[in-house]
Amino acid sequence: MNLSITPGKNNVGAYINDIDLKSLDQNQAKEIKKILNQYGVIFIKKQYLDPEAYQNFAKTIGQPVVYPRLKSLDEKFPFINVIERKPDDKNLSFGSSWLHQDTSYLACNRPRYTMLMGIEIPVGQGNTIFSSGFNAYNKLPNDIKEKIKDATGVFSSAGPIAVTRLEREKEMGIQSSESMEAEHPIVIAVDGKKTLYVSPGHLIKIKNVKDDEAEYLKNYLVDQVNKEEFIFSYEWDKGDICLWDNLSILHMASEIKNCRRVMHRITIK
Ligand SMILES: [Fe+2]
Repeated sequence: MNLSITPGKNNVGAYINDIDLKSLDQNQAKEIKKILNQYGVIFIKKQYLDPEAYQNFAKTIGQPVVYPRLKSLDEKFPFINVIERKPDDKNLSFGSSWLHQDTSYLACNRPRYTMLMGIEIPVGQGNTIFSSGFNAYNKLPNDIKEKIKDATGVFSSAGPIAVTRLEREKEMGIQSSESMEAEHPIVIAVDGKKTLYVSPGHLIKIKNVKDDEAEYLKNYLVDQVNKEEFIFSYEWDKGDICLWDNLSILHMASEIKNCRRVMHRITIK
């Protein structure tokens, strides 16, 4: 069987159409995971899953993990984190301002996938912005591809995005953890296709390139993944699910002002 899919804007990810995740069979689950790895991000409209069904769907993709930086829904659903934006929140939204790939600052056991479901969605704002590392890599000039073929990035939890995180932790009364740092190759292959792993929100340095070109290449790659032609700004409806592979897809939250927005998030290994 073949699920019906429609590519997202600018060929970023794919919508999976005509599916009800509440009554998923094993073949469909397998096919969804295949589409996810091929396209990097999938969009499934209006599913309205209850916490049990949502957590069960996550388990068809991989092992959900507890994400200690965010509060859990409750004891029964430790894997579901609630991301809530209140109308009077003044600081930046969680994960906004910088495209990033979640937890790139971990050396090993990086959770691979992140999933969100829209619970309360404001009208006209609060999009999630995705950038395709596959497309950004493909369109690089050959000389840049050559220069970065063995490059590694140094990724830090104290990188550019940390300002948002620190504000958020302070607001939630969480004791800030020590910063973490890891190195990973910049060019990786997912399902045989090369993609850019540059997580601008965490990237602090590029190594294994000519010393005098390191800063230039870092800025070049950050600009590349931010180009409009590789971006899809996803407009949420209540009940929608977005599920992405942090190896091949970059994301960030857009700014939200004076309204309430609630998402349920699950991180998956
Ligand atoms: Fe994120």
